[in-house]
Amino acid sequence: MKEIKVKIIEDKEYQIYIKKGILSSLTEYLSRTIENKKVIVITNPLVNGLYGAKLLSVLKKGGYNPDSIEVPDGEKYKSLITANYLYDELLKRKVDRTTTLIALGGGVIGDLTGFVAATYMRGLPLVHIPTTLLAQVDSSIGGKVAVDHPLAKNIMGSFYQPQAVYIDPEVLQTLSERDINNGMVEAIKIAVISSPSLFRWLEKNIAQFINKNIYLLDELVKEAVSLKVDIVLKDPWERGLRKILNFGHSIGHALEVEAGYQGLSHGEAVALGMLIETKIAHHRGICSEVLEEQIKHILSFLPAGAVHADRRKQESINTDIRELDLNHLCETLTLDKKNIQGKMRFILPETLGKVTLVDDITKEEVIKALEEFKKEWVLC
Ligand SMILES: NC(=O)c1ccc[n+]([C@@H]2O[C@H](COP(=O)([O-])OP(=O)(O)OC[C@H]3O[C@@H](n4cnc5c(N)ncnc54)[C@H](O)[C@@H]3O)[C@@H](O)[C@H]2O)c1
Ligand SMILES: [Zn+2]
Repeated sequence: MKEIKVKIIEDKEYQIYIKKGILSSLTEYLSRTIENKKVIVITNPLVNGLYGAKLLSVLKKGGYNPDSIEVPDGEKYKSLITANYLYDELLKRKVDRTTTLIALGGGVIGDLTGFVAATYMRGLPLVHIPTTLLAQVDSSIGGKVAVDHPLAKNIMGSFYQPQAVYIDPEVLQTLSERDINNGMVEAIKIAVISSPSLFRWLEKNIAQFINKNIYLLDELVKEAVSLKVDIVLKDPWERGLRKILNFGHSIGHALEVEAGYQGLSHGEAVALGMLIETKIAHHRGICSEVLEEQIKHILSFLPAGAVHADRRKQESINTDIRELDLNHLCETLTLDKKNIQGKMRFILPETLGKVTLVDDITKEEVIKALEEFKKEWVLC
C-alpha cells in the first residue's frame, strides 16, 4: 500500500491511501479519519449497482450508520440543479455538520459531492473514493471542487480538502475502454507537464494500460498521484505553479461547453485541447515539431481505441469538431477562469516535462490552429 500525507492547511493533514482491495477493509482506515458514525454515500446508479451495496455492507460491519443518495450519471448533472437536489436530500435527512459525505464515483461525483460538502452548512467532512482512472490519477487529488454552468465549465467552485482519499485500483476492472482512455489522457497530461520518464513509460506500455493491466494501472496511479501532490503542495491555491495542471484545459473546457457537456467526455475534450494548444505552441516557436509529433503520437492510441469501442460516439465527436463554430468557441474561451482582464491565458508545452504560461494568446492564432487541426483530424 502507498500512503501519501498531504498537509495544505496548518492544522489539517490528510492521507491518500492507494491499495488494491482497500474498499473491503475501508473501515480500518476510516476510523482514523472521521469521528461521527453517520455517513452519507453520494453516487450514481451505475457505480451504486457495482460497488454501492458492498460499500454499505463494509460500513455497517464497521459500526457506521450509512445512508446513500443517487444522482443521475453524466457531466451535465454536475450542476447547481443537482447540488440543490442534494441540499434538499441532506436537509430531509436532518444532516448536521458532523455527518461525513463519501463521494463514490468518478470525477463528476467527486467534484459535485465536494462542492456540496464545501457549501452545506459552510462545510461537512468529505471522503473521496474515486472509481474512475481519471478520478484516481487526477480529480480526487488537490481539493478542487466545482459544478458547471451552461456557459462556463467549473465556474462555481472552491478549494476544499477532504478528510481522506481511498483509492482502490481494482475497481478499474469494470471501467469501459472509453473511461480508461479518459484517465490516460490526464495521466499523459501530467507526464507532459512534469515527467519525461513517465511519458516514456506510458508510451512504451500504452496497449497494456488500455487492456487494463492491473499491475501497471496500480503503478500508474501511484506515480501520477505523487506527481500531482508535489505540484499541489507547492501551490495549493493555484496562484502560480499549479496552473500548469491546466495544460489542454483552456481549449478542452471550451469544447465541453460547446458540446453542452454531452457527447464529448472531459478526457476527450482535454486530449483535443492538448493537441490544439500544442499546435499554438509550435506556431509560436515555443515547442518543436518533434514534441508536437510525440504528443500526437501518444494521444492517437486513445481516441483511436474509442473508435472501435464505440463508433457512434466517435462519429459524434467528429461531427462536433467538423461543425464547431470557431467564433463562438473563442467567445467561450474568453470566459475561462484563467483569463485576467480579458486576456486569454494558456499553458503551452516547451519540451517534455516543461510548460509555460502565455497570457497574450490572440483569437487569430486560436482560429489558425483550430482550422489547421480540423484539416488534419482524421475522420473515419
Ligand atoms: N477537481 C479536479 O481537480 C478535476 C481534475 C480533473 C477532472 N475533473 C473533473 O472530472 C470530471 C470527469 O471525471 P470522469 O472522467 O471520472 O467522469 P465521470 O465521473 O462521468 O465517470 C465516467 C463514467 O464512468 C462510470 N464509472 C465510474 N466508476 C466506474 C467503475 N469503477 N466501473 C465502471 N464505470 C464506472 C461513471 O458512472 C460514468 O459513466 C469532469 O467533470 C472534470 O471537470 C476535476
Ligand atoms: Zn481535467
